[in-house]
Amino acid sequence: MKKIGILTGGADCPGLNSVIRAVVCKGLHHGYVITGIKNGWQGLIDNDMKVLDLNSVSGILDRGGTILGTSRINPLENPDQIKKISENYKRSGIDALIVVGGEATFRIASELQKRKVIRVIGVPKSIDNSLSGTDYAFGFDTAVNIATECIDRLHTTAESHHRIMVAEVMGRYTGWVALEAGIAGGANIVLVPEIPVDIEAVCKALKNRHQCGRTSSIVIVSEGVTCKDHPEFFKTISEKKMHTFGGISELIARMIESETGFDTRVSMLGYIQRGGIPSAYDRLIGTRFGVHAIELVEEEKFGHMVSLRNNRLHSVPIEEAIEKRKTINMDIYDMARVFFAE
Ligand code: F6P
Repeated sequence: MKKIGILTGGADCPGLNSVIRAVVCKGLHHGYVITGIKNGWQGLIDNDMKVLDLNSVSGILDRGGTILGTSRINPLENPDQIKKISENYKRSGIDALIVVGGEATFRIASELQKRKVIRVIGVPKSIDNSLSGTDYAFGFDTAVNIATECIDRLHTTAESHHRIMVAEVMGRYTGWVALEAGIAGGANIVLVPEIPVDIEAVCKALKNRHQCGRTSSIVIVSEGVTCKDHPEFFKTISEKKMHTFGGISELIARMIESETGFDTRVSMLGYIQRGGIPSAYDRLIGTRFGVHAIELVEEEKFGHMVSLRNNRLHSVPIEEAIEKRKTINMDIYDMARVFFAE
């Protein structure tokens, strides 16, 4: 009888529980024992794990977050922790570990597999949709839907007060949420990390738009944007720790207001984008990913990650998924320029 472990690592996101449920249901169907590891890699270090049965995953499909808990710990920075992971993994009798995570979690998984500490199958999770090797990671669709709804709401208050609304969305290195929610929500300017911000051009575009009779505008900003002409943008980001990103929109809003004279306000969407119920699409792909992860265990495709290409499930080496980030589709950005202020 095979024993399969599952852990969720890094940032939480909607859809994690759909994956856990699918892994348990499919795994039990095959007669496997499924062990849930608590709080990501921390659970393997602390030997904090429990067997999951159908009762453990009942009623969780639509629940945000992760019933297993998560953490941002990086055991590669601490040889003692790797030793503990190795000991506890062996002691648990786990044959393969399903790791549900993003870039950082997969870097750890890939290295531990290389060192023959674990045998791993990856399931891609990312609000930012920045993982290569898959068209989508679950969590992204929910974030786009939430951000779109927020933009819809910002339009009406911006119009009433004749204001510029600057809304900051998640996207540390890639602007997928900004781009897709910006298009869906009818934003007037979308700033993404892939294109360094030209603040003078932004102000000029806003002035043009308002000279043409519009009295309000929506500017969407990815949290990770940079600006080559204003090094203070970089400074703010690099002075903060990676995990406390956010706040760049305040600077951008101040610059817009002083340059254009338009009343400008900021909304940081923050963790609202990550919490709460997953969209139907994220539940669906989370479920498909979980089932496919068990199929990959059966095929012994260790070191591979579940991948979605043209709505079909495949697998790719985890190494390939983390080699370089999946940046936004510039064709979509260019198409959307027709709706953006210039
Ligand atoms: O990587 C996903 C993400 O949500 C980023 O968009 C954001 O910068 C980061 O996680 C925030 O993570 P934390 O939970 O550590 O604050």
